[in-house]
Amino acid sequence: MNKTIAILVAGGASVVAGAASAQNLNFICSADQAVCERLVSEFEGSHDIDVNMVRLSSGEAYAKLRAEARNPQTDLWWGGTGDPHLQAASDDLTEEYQSPMLEELQPWAVQQAETSGHRTVGVYSGALGWGYNTEILSEKGVEPPRCWDDLLDPALAGEIQIADPNSSGTAYTALATLVQLMGEDEAFEYLKELDANVSQYTKSGSAPVKAAARGESGLGIVFMHDAVAQAEEGFPIEVVAPCEGTGYEIGSMSLIAGAQNEEEAKTFYDWVLTAEVQSILPEAGSFQIPSNKNAEAPEAAPDLSEIKLIDYDFAEYGGTERRSELLSRWDSEVGGVGN
Ligand code: F6P
Repeated sequence: MNKTIAILVAGGASVVAGAASAQNLNFICSADQAVCERLVSEFEGSHDIDVNMVRLSSGEAYAKLRAEARNPQTDLWWGGTGDPHLQAASDDLTEEYQSPMLEELQPWAVQQAETSGHRTVGVYSGALGWGYNTEILSEKGVEPPRCWDDLLDPALAGEIQIADPNSSGTAYTALATLVQLMGEDEAFEYLKELDANVSQYTKSGSAPVKAAARGESGLGIVFMHDAVAQAEEGFPIEVVAPCEGTGYEIGSMSLIAGAQNEEEAKTFYDWVLTAEVQSILPEAGSFQIPSNKNAEAPEAAPDLSEIKLIDYDFAEYGGTERRSELLSRWDSEVGGVGN
């Protein structure tokens, strides 16, 4: 708990002057809520630092950091897709930091750090795909979709959910993936057609497969590890890696420029990159590939070497200009047109 100091002022009234404890950490977490909570409890259990955590989707977190740039209220941002972390880096919203843990990290995690001038770093990785509810699709007599193209089947009308790429890093990864797979104009044509089958654009990236797991819709376009998490919980979810190829994320972490609790943020930063901490996260339902080379990848994690991955251009699609341009085109041609 924060300790506060009450100062007696003339006349005997007291006012709260602020937190006496320097041991605080204001933390944005952009992974699944259960994983975020587990991180906080593990960290608080082993450090004398109180964590104020807020769970925000990747795009929302970026927007918050931008809004508070002149008076940062956040110290550290962990998780969420790498693109908005890279955008935050190029906007100088995040601070350069080279953790001593860098040498234990996978090349893709170090590459992410190098791309950003060490203003961000990779914490996990995972590929995009979808999860479908086997019972719903078989009741409807729909052939399970294996390819991006199959998602346009009119038999899937109203059965698909995907997040809004403005708030969700997952959905932005889908948008950027389709642009890289098909070309920009073709990708927007595809998304406009897909819109006929989409019942809802959710705020959070993993919500679509949670809805499919609970039988509220047939299929969610999500990171495959989020679909695996539902299947592991016993829901009738089958996980698909699209046949044409797919994109992936380098989930990232950034220290915020002007952080009020920089030392505490660095303590968390180094701690969360250890193999020990990364190996615990599967217990909370995290099925991504961890960035520490010595951490154990969960057995159920999709094996990236068996998936047809595109050569995702993180520098370009995490760039401010490209991300803003694609999002406003999505707003005007897909999301904002009503369905
Ligand atoms: O649920 C975990 C996860 O898929 C992460 O792998 C990813 O970085 C994050 O969620 C993205 O969430 P959102 O799409 O809500 O920004």
